[in-house]
Amino acid sequence: MINPKQIVGEKAAEYIKPGMKVGLGTGSTAYFTTLKVGQLVKEGLDIQCVPTSKSTEKLAKELNIPLIDIASVDELDITIDGADEVDQNKHLIKGGGAAHTREKIVASITKHYIIIVDQSKLVKTLGTFKLPVEIIPFAKEISQRQVEALGCTSDWRLKEDGEILISDNGNYILDCNFHSIPDPANLNQKLNMIPGVVENGLFVGMANTIISGDQNGHLTIF
Ligand code: A5P
Repeated sequence: MINPKQIVGEKAAEYIKPGMKVGLGTGSTAYFTTLKVGQLVKEGLDIQCVPTSKSTEKLAKELNIPLIDIASVDELDITIDGADEVDQNKHLIKGGGAAHTREKIVASITKHYIIIVDQSKLVKTLGTFKLPVEIIPFAKEISQRQVEALGCTSDWRLKEDGEILISDNGNYILDCNFHSIPDPANLNQKLNMIPGVVENGLFVGMANTIISGDQNGHLTIF
């Protein structure tokens, strides 16, 4: 059976050229890119990579992919990452894996930001997927009230054992149900104005190329 996540993940790896500095995304789709990058490195491809999460860092190390500290990088040539929703303007919701803060930082220093998704992630208007918002523990209740005042209901992300999930950055994730986000730029700005909010999962005007794949292995690139 064809796995669209694998098809798009491997297709995106074709954009990586020798000598590039590459951002490695997080999640079940970016996983396939990282695997492919591991294979290409094994075959001799000379690149340096920055992971967007502790889980991707672990996988990259297992695959002997050369990693560099983001502190030593001003610009990345390319980053390949998944998304939870993609609209026609290439605006995104990310953070289903709680990694959106590091992902957004990496995206912000990337020249060519490629998003890989299976077709089910393409939407007309963002917002069906609950928007992840990372919040520092000190501000837990006050920030939740201020976020909800923007027009959503919300729940704290929990782990399987029922305990609150802690992000790679030591913070909480608030999943916000806005139902529909017709003006993502405006909401992105308003959320990030709330003092306890570290970063939200709206990626507005950041993606350059979207690679989407369906169950039959057909690709759409825009
Ligand atoms: C990680 O926090 C996310 O932004 C992922 O990139 C996003 O959730 C897509 O993940 P999947 O490829 O697993 O659906």
